[in-house]
Amino acid sequence: MSAIVCSHVDKAYGATTVIRDLNLAIEEHEFVVFLGPSGCGKSTLLRMLAGLEDISGGEVSIGGKVVNDLEPGDRGIAMVFQNYALYPHMTIFDNIAFGLKRQKVPAAEIKKRVEAVSRTLGLEPYLGRKPTELSGGQQQRVAIARAMIKTPKVFLFDEPLSNLDAKLRNHMRVEIARLHQSLKTTTVYVTHDQLEAMTLADRIVLLKDGVIEQIGSPAEIYRRPGNLFVAGFIGTPNMNFIEAMVGRKGDGWTLTGAGTVLSLQGGDFDLRHGDRVVLGVRPPDLKTAQAGRANLLQGTADLIEFHGNDALVTFGSGGKEISALVPARECPELRAPVHYMFDEESIHLFDAETGKSLRRQ
Ligand SMILES: Nc1ncnc2c1ncn2[C@@H]1O[C@H](COP(=O)(O)OP(=O)(O)OP(=O)(O)O)[C@@H](O)[C@H]1O
Ligand SMILES: [Mg+2]
Repeated sequence: MSAIVCSHVDKAYGATTVIRDLNLAIEEHEFVVFLGPSGCGKSTLLRMLAGLEDISGGEVSIGGKVVNDLEPGDRGIAMVFQNYALYPHMTIFDNIAFGLKRQKVPAAEIKKRVEAVSRTLGLEPYLGRKPTELSGGQQQRVAIARAMIKTPKVFLFDEPLSNLDAKLRNHMRVEIARLHQSLKTTTVYVTHDQLEAMTLADRIVLLKDGVIEQIGSPAEIYRRPGNLFVAGFIGTPNMNFIEAMVGRKGDGWTLTGAGTVLSLQGGDFDLRHGDRVVLGVRPPDLKTAQAGRANLLQGTADLIEFHGNDALVTFGSGGKEISALVPARECPELRAPVHYMFDEESIHLFDAETGKSLRRQ
C-alpha cells in the first residue's frame, strides 16, 4: 500500500488554478522531493498533504485513508518549515516536549522521549539552553526534533535549510539523509535547490506551473529528461541547446545547426527527414578533440570560468553560445580556437515544437 496517494488533485485560489489534475503515489519509507522553480506549487501541494490548505478537487489519502476532511493533527504527519520559529522563552527541552505536554503525556514518558530524540540528533548538551543560545543548524535540529517526537507516519519538509549558510546546509543535508536512513519514515521534502533534490531523493517530482513534468530517480531525471524543461532545469552548468534540422544520409542522419553539420547514427531516436529538433549536450559531455576531425563543435574561446579541477569554456558556433566543462589542464587560452566532440550516447534530442524527448522508449 502506498503511504500517500494524490488522485486528480486540483487547487485553485479564486479563478487561479495553481495545481492541475495531479496524480502521484508515494511509497512507504520513500524519500520524495518536490522540485521546481519558484511559484510552481510545491508548498501548496505539501500544505494540502498536511491539511493546512483545502483541496479544491480530487482526493488525498495517507496510509490508505482519504484525508481531505481530516484536521492536520489527525493525519499522522509532522511538518518542518523554512521558518521553524522556536519558543524563545522556553528551554530546548520544553520546545521539543511542547506537543507531548499539550497531549498530556506523563512527565516520565516525555523525559524518555525527549532524551531519545535528542540523542539521535546530537542535541543532548543543549537541552537546558534557550534557542538564542544555539547556532542556526542546532536550532534547525530542534525543529526537526520537535517534529520527530510525534513519531509521525510521514515527515513533510518545506525548504527547511534555506535560512542556513552554505556550509551548514551541506552539513544538515547529510544529517537529514542519515536520519532517513535510520528512521525510514516516509518523507516529502520541498526544495528549489537541485543539488539538495539530487542528493536526498529516492524519487524527484519535478513540477512546473502546478503540473508534474517528470517523476523519476535523480539518475533517471538527469540521464533521461523527458522534455526540454526538465533537461534545462536539471544539471549545472546548464545543458547546451542547439536548434537543428534533421536530414537523412545513407543509414544515418545529419543535424544541421549552429553553423555546422553533425552526423548521427540516430538509432535511439525517432527522427524524420526535415524535422526541426533541439540537440541537447551537457557541458561535461563535450570532450577536447583534435582540429580537423569530423563531427566537431568548434569556435573561439570567448569566456573561461576556472572552477578548480575543471574549467567552463564558452565559445560561439554559428552565432550560438556553447559551453564545455573540461579538466583544468585542458583549459585553452582566451580567444584560442577550440574543438570539442561528443559520444552519441550522451546526447539528447527534443522536438523543437513540443519540447518532448525524441528518445525511443
Ligand atoms: N493564498 C493564495 N492566494 C492566491 N494565490 C496563491 C496563494 N498562495 C499561493 N498562491 C500562488 O500559487 C502559486 C504556487 O505557490 P507556492 O507557494 O506553492 O509556490 P512554491 O513552488 O512553493 O514557490 P517557492 O519556491 O517560491 O516557495 C504561486 O503562483 C502563488 O502566487
Ligand atoms: Mg514554497
